[in-house]
Amino acid sequence: MDIGARSRLAFLGGARRGSARTVATAVLVAMTCGASTLAAPSQAAQAAPPPGAASSAPASGAWGVMASGASGTTASGAWGATASGAWGAAALSAPDDRTGTGPLPRPRVDCRRVKCVALTFDDGPGPYTDTLLAYLAAYHAHATFFVVGGNVVTYPRVLRRTVAAGHEIGNHTWSHPDLTRLPPARVRSQLGRTDQAIRAVTGVVPRLVRPPYGALNATVRRQTDRPMVLWSVDTLDWRFRSSATVARRALRSVRPGSVILFHDIHPTTVRAMPRVLRKLAKRGYRFVTVSELFGGHPPRLVFGAP
Ligand code: NI
Repeated sequence: MDIGARSRLAFLGGARRGSARTVATAVLVAMTCGASTLAAPSQAAQAAPPPGAASSAPASGAWGVMASGASGTTASGAWGATASGAWGAAALSAPDDRTGTGPLPRPRVDCRRVKCVALTFDDGPGPYTDTLLAYLAAYHAHATFFVVGGNVVTYPRVLRRTVAAGHEIGNHTWSHPDLTRLPPARVRSQLGRTDQAIRAVTGVVPRLVRPPYGALNATVRRQTDRPMVLWSVDTLDWRFRSSATVARRALRSVRPGSVILFHDIHPTTVRAMPRVLRKLAKRGYRFVTVSELFGGHPPRLVFGAP
């Protein structure tokens, strides 16, 4: 099944119209990490925007998203049309301080003024992550790692090095289940256990969550106040185990504000990164974390620029 830019655009288009949510969910679920747990129609049909979600919101500046603060009414997102479209990032509360995330990270780059891209790496840490860290360091690139709790306990030192290098850590659950198939208590335990493991190893509690397979519904979203981070460019690197293909897929679709999805558990992906970094740096991109892309305040649902 070739789900590329066309499907992504179809998803985003449907999302903006506030329609075709069932299709959109199925596409999202299929877009990452292998299609092994495609949602059954019943699961897909459960997907719905949160109550009171805005149908759209004007695109504000990259940092405009933070505006909503506690009232949470205008989370239009840096790339508002995308971030706020279907699901609407609105009508949700401020980030959950109970997670003990500490002071907001200070953005190192102003993405309102320079071209930014957020590289994101899922499913690690793993045996190739250290190599990736070296590639990123060579370009002064900061990325976001959505780690799996089970791998955190296997590779604690790798995760510590990742944090020490200035990268952002996100929660990608403990064992990578499709959260839409779990009861709420198990969704919370998947996230909570992973938070604890990350904190035990690094002292950091992740501010961001990326649901495995991009599978989301209203029930899942209610289990945490933290931003749910999806993506706007899918390299499908779990399927294309070719560095050239992975690099090409990343480079052909990127634009300022993109959130690109990779998996650092695949050596082909890690080997693609020098080319990706070199080409994007040449085009003038700065490599920032997801939080930096949004000036420290990601909206409640992040796609990135389409
Ligand atoms: Ni994943």
